[in-house]
Amino acid sequence: MKTLIVYTSQTGFTQRYAEWLAEEMKADILNLKEAQKKDEKYFDSYDAIIYGGWAMAGTVTKVKWFLDKASSWEDKRLALFCVGGGPNDSPDIEVMFNKTLNDNQKKHIKTFYCQGGFNYEKMNAPSKMAMKMFVSSQKRKKNQTEDEKKMVEMISSSYDISDKKFIAPIVEYFESEN
Ligand SMILES: Cc1cc2nc3c(=O)[nH]c(=O)nc-3n(C[C@H](O)[C@H](O)[C@H](O)COP(=O)(O)O)c2cc1C
Repeated sequence: MKTLIVYTSQTGFTQRYAEWLAEEMKADILNLKEAQKKDEKYFDSYDAIIYGGWAMAGTVTKVKWFLDKASSWEDKRLALFCVGGGPNDSPDIEVMFNKTLNDNQKKHIKTFYCQGGFNYEKMNAPSKMAMKMFVSSQKRKKNQTEDEKKMVEMISSSYDISDKKFIAPIVEYFESEN
């Protein structure tokens, strides 16, 4: 199955997962900026296309590009993976994918989540500012639960909870559909 992986990444976590996938699946890989320069024909030869974006405020970054294209890729096997700062078992993941895809897209596009982390050193100024505001608003919140306190503590500085093992379900999905 000829596969293409398109990704967008600000601080490197999504890029790392895209590269792990490309290596494991022997797939081609393109940064979204490069993919946006390609014409329609370029994608014709691919049997499968996977889009990877990072989680931002409960949505998947720049997913619109992929969803717009996906409507004309009905003959291809499609998947979407999202990389976020939260753990793989977070209930927020389902909420995010439910918000991101409509019912028709859900039938055609398989979704996956891979836990990433936070890298404040590589983050741009608007992202740093947004995170600073989010952390201080959470700290001001009264009656914080223990889980919320832990989460705020965790996202106050950089951490890395990424692991190659999280690509396994994606690889398996494409192998099983061969
Ligand atoms: C402004 C902002 C909002 C974010 N919102 C979420 C979120 O809603 N859920 C989540 O799990 N992670 C969230 N994150 C964390 C990023 O998704 C995480 O750092 C991810 O690993 C970044 O991927 P990248 O290194 O490919 O850019 C947010 C990060 C920023 C900067």
